[in-house]
Amino acid sequence: MLDKLDWQTDRVLIDEWVFRLEHSASGNLASGTDYFRFSKTKELVDQYARYWATLQGFAPNNVFELGIWDGGSVVLWFEHLHPKKHVALDLKTDGDSKYFQGYLKSKGVGSRIKTYWGTNQADEEALRRIVADEFVGPIDLVIDDASHLYGPTKASFQFLFPLLRPGGIYIIEDWAWAHWKGIQIGHAKDELTPLIFELVEAAGSSTTLIADVSVFQSFVALYAVRWRFKSRLRYRSISIDIQNPLDQAIIKQAPRASRRLLQTRSRASAGRAALRW
Ligand SMILES: C[S@@+](CC[C@H](N)C(=O)[O-])C[C@H]1O[C@@H](n2cnc3c(N)ncnc32)[C@H](O)[C@@H]1O
Repeated sequence: MLDKLDWQTDRVLIDEWVFRLEHSASGNLASGTDYFRFSKTKELVDQYARYWATLQGFAPNNVFELGIWDGGSVVLWFEHLHPKKHVALDLKTDGDSKYFQGYLKSKGVGSRIKTYWGTNQADEEALRRIVADEFVGPIDLVIDDASHLYGPTKASFQFLFPLLRPGGIYIIEDWAWAHWKGIQIGHAKDELTPLIFELVEAAGSSTTLIADVSVFQSFVALYAVRWRFKSRLRYRSISIDIQNPLDQAIIKQAPRASRRLLQTRSRASAGRAALRW
């Protein structure tokens, strides 16, 4: 679907739906009744297209997006991924624009797309409530395009990553903003880069959480392990290799439900491994 996007100078079209490009506007775009304000660039969407193309057969049922802005990315990803449920939240209290409401109505997808305004991505209680109320089954994909700050981004990750299904994907967008031209390196407060390093370390030190990390200029994608253990050695590592501080934080801070999920997965994997021996 992404290759069918009709990119024009100041907008991109998906069928009759208009996404006005913030980056090509001279000033701030006003909220519109006949367009979405769209904060993504073509370069970024092209990187996503390359990434999705590497994921043969990835068809997420449950998508959780952090950061709504004007709803353009919710519609973009819903049109591209066709999930059963797409839930999105934002700290702002703007509510759905008229144009967004029009999209939901004309497509008849009001029960499949849910937005939560006035919700902080770092608010674990709110995340817990939303996940429990909205999703049937585990989450397949999280796209974090919200604060882009170390603290809140890590808080959401620690809560949501353990709730991903095996083989699920967690994306953190714009991780590299502290290195963009015009921002003095080392002066960026709360930059995301240290978190990305921690996640790479976690991927290297545990076989039970992050299977791999794909780093693009505009986002990082973390792939949750599939919980297949081929050898006794790897099975043993379940209990001994959670050494990275972030891993421990995830295990300790995961809410009871996610801990149960983790334990269930571990037991299931152990069972499968034991049967094979
Ligand atoms: C860069 S915009 C991107 C939104 C959308 N994904 C898009 O591509 O149009 C980031 C959004 O995150 C929201 N945001 C910032 N900090 C947040 C937080 N702590 N929790 C939830 N949302 C937050 C902002 O209000 C803003 O709407």
